[in-house]
Amino acid sequence: MTPTPPGPLRILSGIQPTGKPHLGNYFGAIKQHIALQNEATCFYFIADYHSLTSVQDPAALRQNVLDVALDYFALGLDPSKAAFFRQSDVPEVTELAWIFSTVCPMGLLERAVSYKEKVDRGIEASVGLFFYPVLQAADILIYRSHVVPVGKDQVQHIEITRDLAEKFNRTWGEVFPIPTYRLDKGSKVPGTDGQKMSKSYGNAIEIFAEGKPLQKSVMSIVTDSLPVEAPKDPDKCTVFTLYSLFATDAERDALAARYRAGGMGYGEAKKMLLEKINAHFGPIREKRKQLSAHPEQVEEALRQGAVRARAEARQTMQLVRAAVGMKPQSVA
Ligand code: TRP
Repeated sequence: MTPTPPGPLRILSGIQPTGKPHLGNYFGAIKQHIALQNEATCFYFIADYHSLTSVQDPAALRQNVLDVALDYFALGLDPSKAAFFRQSDVPEVTELAWIFSTVCPMGLLERAVSYKEKVDRGIEASVGLFFYPVLQAADILIYRSHVVPVGKDQVQHIEITRDLAEKFNRTWGEVFPIPTYRLDKGSKVPGTDGQKMSKSYGNAIEIFAEGKPLQKSVMSIVTDSLPVEAPKDPDKCTVFTLYSLFATDAERDALAARYRAGGMGYGEAKKMLLEKINAHFGPIREKRKQLSAHPEQVEEALRQGAVRARAEARQTMQLVRAAVGMKPQSVA
């Protein structure tokens, strides 16, 4: 039997501090992360140790980390509910990663697709980049997490995590629950060209964009070229798909009926979408601006998160150290 930690379900996810979040990130992942804070014990961290495998400019790293924190807090992450923290504020995770590495077969990491893809994209093939999945396993297991919400590209990393948890448990005794993943809904959000929305495809609508740049990206959504009077198929239209993400069922049905009836152009649908985006994200943008004027509040919230996370991590590490035959960490 795998021991499960006391109390409710534990959910964990790590967020890469890179780039400005877009509708795909929001509806695919961030929104669910934030909703889960009311349902389970959540640990969310900004993966700054991992980030060092690609960002070596300290000012950029600091800025990226602050940006993610501002994004999440503005979007409604409540630090008194979910523990939201910087990965590097819990350095114990690197110790656990080392211990896992000693039972991690080389072949397990050699098969990791994400490593190969990153190297193909031109990221330096460092030992850290190769080791990345082991650190990720430690991230997950140090909080003895049950469920990890992730995108499809991370599934293999969760499978590696499961392998390492099982290997540890077999080698040294049952310490870790075997976590499962929960797939994000990212692929359901199309970008301006109708493909999956992604920063790297250049088809993203950023959630903190406003004014002209936002208008420009909404107006650039690709549609077919049916004239205004023609009946249109809402289910084949990116504008409609994006509008549906914001609309109530009744609003969605009303717009679908107008598409089918003809007499409405895509320009009008785009304006309706733009209004929805502004109504939804307008107050959130304001909140982000206010928060960014008070970085000390953000720092304090991250610190609170780290205190909770670290207490949990230390408890796990006492079990781990005892299991492998080391002394508990007693030096302050
Ligand atoms: N590798 C993840 C990504 O690229 C980020 C991450 C790091 C993570 N540690 C994690 C995700 C632990 C889930 C659990 O998005």
